[in-house]
Amino acid sequence: MCGIIGIIGKAPVTPLLVDALKRLEYRGYDSAGVATLINGHIDRRRAEGKLVNLEARLKSEPLAGTIGIGHTRWATHGKPSERNAHPIATDRVAIVHNGIIENFQELKDELVAEGRRFESDTDTEAVAQLLTSYLERQMSPEAAMGKAMGRLRGAFALVAMFSGRHDILMGARRGSSLAVGHGDGEMYVGTDALALAPFTSRVTYLEDDDWVVLSSSGCAVYQGTTKVERPEKRSGLSGAMIGKGNHQHFMLKEMHEQPAVIGDTLQSYLDPATRAVRTPSLPFDWNTVSRITMTGCGTAFYACMVAKYWFEKLARLPVEIEVASEFRYREPPLPEGGVCIAVSQSGETIDTLEALRYAKSQKQILLAVTNVPESAIARFSHAVLPTLAGPEICVASTKAFTTQLIVLLNAAIAAGRARGTLSREDEERLALAMIELPARINETLNMEDDYRRIAENTLAQARDVLYLGRGASFPVALEGALKLKELSYIHAEGYAGGEMKHGPIALIDDAVPVVVVAPSDSIFGKIASNFEHKIASNFEQVRARGGKLVLLSDARGVAKLGAKAETSIAVPDIDPVVAPILYTVAVQLLAYYTALAKGTDIDQPRNLAKSVTVE
Ligand code: G6P
Repeated sequence: MCGIIGIIGKAPVTPLLVDALKRLEYRGYDSAGVATLINGHIDRRRAEGKLVNLEARLKSEPLAGTIGIGHTRWATHGKPSERNAHPIATDRVAIVHNGIIENFQELKDELVAEGRRFESDTDTEAVAQLLTSYLERQMSPEAAMGKAMGRLRGAFALVAMFSGRHDILMGARRGSSLAVGHGDGEMYVGTDALALAPFTSRVTYLEDDDWVVLSSSGCAVYQGTTKVERPEKRSGLSGAMIGKGNHQHFMLKEMHEQPAVIGDTLQSYLDPATRAVRTPSLPFDWNTVSRITMTGCGTAFYACMVAKYWFEKLARLPVEIEVASEFRYREPPLPEGGVCIAVSQSGETIDTLEALRYAKSQKQILLAVTNVPESAIARFSHAVLPTLAGPEICVASTKAFTTQLIVLLNAAIAAGRARGTLSREDEERLALAMIELPARINETLNMEDDYRRIAENTLAQARDVLYLGRGASFPVALEGALKLKELSYIHAEGYAGGEMKHGPIALIDDAVPVVVVAPSDSIFGKIASNFEHKIASNFEQVRARGGKLVLLSDARGVAKLGAKAETSIAVPDIDPVVAPILYTVAVQLLAYYTALAKGTDIDQPRNLAKSVTVE
């Protein structure tokens, strides 16, 4: 959602604040701002739009000061404008905030009744005004923050700077993440270790309901009025991990990192010598699991969809999947002995966290598949299966998704082995297919010019695009459509191949390309004999209406059906169970090059944010 940073430095902090905001911009980018203390007074610069606008502003109106806070925003309360940009300030305090203060209206009514005047439409201002009201009653900043924490409802992380106090910054969190960085005579506080990475690797992660006082020499953490200890940890992140390298976009870099990060993830989950999955130690026995419930949002939900096929086929386990925002409010009954798997790159998506909270109330065992082991979702769960994708900066998820799939496939194999539903032979076959996957992905990435041609000549010319897939290729079709629409703003829909005739066929004419995701085989070869028949019938239905077919298949599929398509690409051969991972890379390439042809902002598509910490 929003990104926040605070620094108590020895030298002017504005350049460091802006530098950190660049690393946080993936979280939101509709306005940005920084504030520092100049001779004890709060001074700030804010600008609507992306960070470059704030940088331009700072060039014409520089901001001195050795203590400061910064923010990059994804608007929730109050439209994106300079007036609503953070830091939100009174003459006493400046605040940067991520999340939502749910009772802001109640607080605002009280504070307005006290005679306070609000200047923005944000929920954040209720916090600034509340603290100001306490400070005016002669409370210390510490006492004011401690008391305010008792009044605030919702999920939030915030950092506050006080006029006249060059010596302290304060932070607080509930639900949203916040980390403290320890420097040499300097201290930092920010949304995550990523923001702090170039400054320091010594990080203290705050827990829910913590509030913290930073001084230049350290920090003190409190819960209520009690001082608590939080360990200092070493973050493995380095500044180099969060640059674009030689790539034009983070997305391109992250797509190209997939062979390496899949390899890294496999190292943890697979023993290449024995071709056996390493069964992670889990607080339950797969044999006693009555049902798996899987949940997530956006692309992470599509990982659940693919995994459903795997758990059902390989482990013969019943699996329910639902997007977290629906699941948490539907309040379905969940059986005793059930496992709830939450999939989340960031580990902080609020709907997913709340869905887990509901599952916990139903006595489910909670398993998190996440890229951020320190995240709220990881810490809330009974066990964590980490994806080792490294920091993902592009808003659209690529390498996090494919590593989620790797982790889930290994878990499904482990479950199949434990339950005796998967033979040793099949386990070895699948292990080998996964070991070969990085090489197959490399081959796919090396064919990027072929994808680029289809993107430029066919997809970028269209107003609507349809993606079709059957079986585990259906979620890949959904992911392909999602990627295309979020990156290029071309309307796209993913459909199960068999459903095309029940509606979407009405859209098809010579202006609507239809991308068919169709490895020539399906799970355990069941569709092998049906392939031609099933896919061919989709083909004929599209062709009869003048639609342009784009076939993504392997050499066998292209040989059979390629002649009927307007254009086709032979994706490298791969075991059909693993194919969804490889075909995902193919649809990523199509979306990336279509967006490139359209000239959109690939890493930061309009209106989107990477981590959605509000409902
Ligand atoms: C946002 C992002 C998506 C992501 C989804 C879930 O919508 O733009 O790329 O898939 O959130 O995020 P999570 O961090 O929970 O995987």
